[in-house]
Amino acid sequence: MTARIAVLASGGGSNLQALLDAIAAGQLDARIVGVFSDKPAAFALQRVSEPLRWSRTSKAYPSRAAFDADLADAVAAATPDWVVCAGYMRILGEAFVLRFRGRVLNIHPSLLPKYRGLDTHARALEAGDAEHGASVHFVIPELDAGAVIAQAPVPVLAGDTAESLAARVLQVEHRLLVHVARLAADGRLAEHEGVASVDGHPLFTPQRLEFAPA
Ligand code: GRF
Repeated sequence: MTARIAVLASGGGSNLQALLDAIAAGQLDARIVGVFSDKPAAFALQRVSEPLRWSRTSKAYPSRAAFDADLADAVAAATPDWVVCAGYMRILGEAFVLRFRGRVLNIHPSLLPKYRGLDTHARALEAGDAEHGASVHFVIPELDAGAVIAQAPVPVLAGDTAESLAARVLQVEHRLLVHVARLAADGRLAEHEGVASVDGHPLFTPQRLEFAPA
């Protein structure tokens, strides 16, 4: 049964494109049933056909909860098996997360639990870390705090800037996200009481994948 994936994105959508490319290449048994954005101008929306696009300007709403309620109704209408936040830059409120509990994933550009939130690359450089990377985790109401499913390290190189490091991390994000999306689409991934599991085995430490430089 082909898994139905809804994607939330706020920007360029390169992670969404990685999913689309994997599907087209027969490497991911899924279909994107909607792309949802808080930015009507997000290029991510242009990566799918018009009927699959949904966007609203969050400023048009009186509250985060009101925006999230419309978003949740639109996502639910697509009847997704999974909801993937791929470069979605708004915090999802508790009502949304609980409505899709256990089925919302997020790709985050750090080796969680390090560097939750924004500016992760600059923070890793500032700390003098030898390695940085990306994580895919289940979304819970607390920001970037859900069970981590898989991670991939990226070495910090001499002379790295936040931009050069971000570019290398983004390449790894794409491959990591496809890996986890495949686990989800193949019915191998679950979350129970805050613990991720693959094939019924709890992940007490995240899977660690090593990707050769692209
Ligand atoms: C990137 O900075 C990525 O690290 C994070 O969201 C941003 C945009 O990603 N996940 P995308 O190109 O829109 O997928």
